[in-house]
Amino acid sequence: MPRISVNVDGTAFTDEVEPRLLLVHYLRDRLGKTGTNIGCDTSNCGACTVVMDGLSVKSCTVLAVQADGSDVTTIEGLADDGRWHPLQKAFHTEHALQCGYCTPGMIMASVGLLADNPDPSDEEVREGLEGNLCRCTGYQNIVKAVRTAAAEMHEGATR
Ligand code: FES
Ligand code: FES
Repeated sequence: MPRISVNVDGTAFTDEVEPRLLLVHYLRDRLGKTGTNIGCDTSNCGACTVVMDGLSVKSCTVLAVQADGSDVTTIEGLADDGRWHPLQKAFHTEHALQCGYCTPGMIMASVGLLADNPDPSDEEVREGLEGNLCRCTGYQNIVKAVRTAAAEMHEGATR
């Protein structure tokens, strides 16, 4: 079986994996990172989104072997020493979730979005998150939360 070395949420792991194993199953079943959700079997919902080498990816569309040598961040590695990431804070303060199932993926997709475009308009947030589905919120507060986080991150960067 192929052996992979991958850094997940700041910890290095080396494991033998079946070539067909999906990254999302590796994260959840082998590493216990169950914060990364599975919401579909059609690569449609985005609940499984993580950041891999700086880009947000749906981890159900990536094989674990493709993550060999990569740096992966899941929702569980986003807080910095117990301090929430601005996106985590903003999703909380702007009431950007209800059941919360989509939230880990929404937040990780937003990390990628803001890395790409630190000051997105409402429209750009909606476009950037179009691969992530939410059945509860109607998206309005999610857009607000991403823009609130963007403003906070911008302020932090210029302070
Ligand atoms: S689980 Fe739905 S896109 Fe990955
Ligand atoms: S908060 Fe329930 S699916 Fe988004």
